Parts: sequence; structure tokens; C-alpha cells
Amino acid sequence: MKNSHTLIIGSSSGIAQALLYELTKNKSNQIITVSRTDESNSSLRSVQSSQSSQSSHFKIKDYSEGSIDSVLELIFGYTSRHFDQVIICNGLLHDDSVKPEKRIDDFSESAFNQVMKVNVITPMLWIKNLASRLKGKQATKLVVLSARVGSISDNRLGGWYSYRSSKSALNMILKTIAIEFSVKAKNIKVIAFHPGTTDTSLSKPFQKNVPEGKLFSPKFVAERLLEISQNMPVDGKLSFVDWQGESIDW
Ligand SMILES: NC(=O)c1ccc[n+]([C@@H]2O[C@H](COP(=O)([O-])OP(=O)(O)OC[C@H]3O[C@@H](n4cnc5c(N)ncnc54)[C@H](OP(=O)(O)O)[C@@H]3O)[C@@H](O)[C@H]2O)c1
Repeated sequence: MKNSHTLIIGSSSGIAQALLYELTKNKSNQIITVSRTDESNSSLRSVQSSQSSQSSHFKIKDYSEGSIDSVLELIFGYTSRHFDQVIICNGLLHDDSVKPEKRIDDFSESAFNQVMKVNVITPMLWIKNLASRLKGKQATKLVVLSARVGSISDNRLGGWYSYRSSKSALNMILKTIAIEFSVKAKNIKVIAFHPGTTDTSLSKPFQKNVPEGKLFSPKFVAERLLEISQNMPVDGKLSFVDWQGESIDW
């Protein structure tokens, strides 16, 4: 892999951690990570940073637009260099208060709002605040972690109302952004990436029905994502692809 500058958002994610691991194998790669988590105990400031020779980490207090803009001011002030790829990993399927719905009776307005905030609004705020900073002459791949369950034509099993619809909405937003970028930021290629079922905390409660050989390690997914990102041409379109690089129907 060629030397690259990468920004990883939502870097506590299992897939993000594997991306970081893979990227740091090449000592010429530079990586910046952003997450609500880090080793520091203090969460009083909205943004904190730590640095090694190869990677820098920024802790963000929350994903409000003000916090996102503050962290981007620090990142782009700290390094005026170009990013070859930006990878947005945020995604919520379940937590203490959110459970994916088996049936419409399970639907909860507040859970739906939380899922939409993490899976749709958060990536959108990042892209809004990144767009002018990423615009330039060199190619930038903007990879956003989506999911095949966001495909309306692929929905055969039902259930998971909030998560499914959040990923469908995310895909529509990415398609719309790709159209806008094709006019005013032609160097940015947008990719909605489906990792496949990956062995992380997100999929943990749902792994028992995964067919043999279909539960991927974060390492495998990270390798696939990085290869697909690197090889994808900058064509002014959104690509909705899986870990094999194969297109997924809307
Ligand atoms: N694992 C799978 O099987 C699978 C399958 C299809 C698609 N995906 C997608 O792949 C992406 C990464 O998944 P993963 O399996 O690596 O997930 P994970 O290990 O559970 O990581 C969760 C990610 O979501 C963010 N997040 C969680 N709760 C949040 C909240 N309340 N507000 C803002 N951000 C929040 C975290 O950001 P912080 O770093 O700030 O904590 C982190 O980036 C997600 O978009 C997911 O939908 C995963």
C-alpha cells in the first residue's frame, strides 16, 4: 500500500481499531483518529489530543456540530496536509437503551431518534464540516460505514426498523453529497461501505445465526476496506459496495 494520510472518525469502533493497526504497519502512513474515548481521565474540555510520531488522537466530548468544528480546526490547524482518505465509522445498533426491533410493537421514538443521530446526523455533520477542508486537487476517498440492511431491495427478513432505515437514509444522504461533490469538490470520492458481519461489540448479540465463515474478523474487513478505498476511481459517484468491492442494490 502506498503511503497515506488517513483521518478515522469514531475510532473506538472495532473496525476502526483494526484499520489503525493495519495502517500503522507502514511506518510512512500518518493517521489521525477522533473518538469520544481516550486514555485520559479528564473530559472537561471539549477536545483533547495525544500524539505519537505516526498517529495523533483527538478526544471529542460529543458529536455536536460545535465539537466537530472545534476538533477539525485543531486537526487542520495542526496539519495543513491533504488526507488521502477519511473513514467515518460511527454506528449504533444497540446499547443500554436501544434494542433492534423484532416487530413494529418494539418501535420506540426515543430509540429511533438516537439511532438516527449516531448513524445519519453524525456522519452528515462531519461531512458538512469537512467538505471545504477536503476540497482540492488531490484525490480524497470519503468512506462511510453503511450496511447492506440499508438496501430496500435486499430487505427480505424485516425487523430492525430503526437501524435499517438509518442506513437507508445514510445512503440517500451520501448519494446526494456525491452529486454535490461532482460539481464543486471533484477530488472527493464517496464510498458507502458494507463490512459484512464483523466480530465487534456491535454484532456480538447477533452472531449465533451467522453462517459458518461469514463472521469476519475486524482485521480482514480493515484489509478489504483499505484496498477498496485505494483502488476506487474518483468518478463523482457514490459507490455502495461490500467487502468484496461488489456493488449492492439500493
Ligand atoms: N460489526 C458489524 O457486523 C457491522 C455490519 C455492518 C455495518 N457495520 C457498521 O460499521 C460501523 C462500525 O461498526 P463496529 O462494528 O466497528 O462498531 P462498534 O465497535 O460497536 O463501534 C461503534 C462506533 O459507533 C460510535 N458510537 C457508538 N455510540 C455512539 C453514540 N452514542 N454517539 C456517537 N457515536 C457513537 C463509536 O464512536 P466513538 O469512537 O466516539 O466511541 C464507534 O465509532 C458502524 O457504522 C456499523 O453500523 C458493522
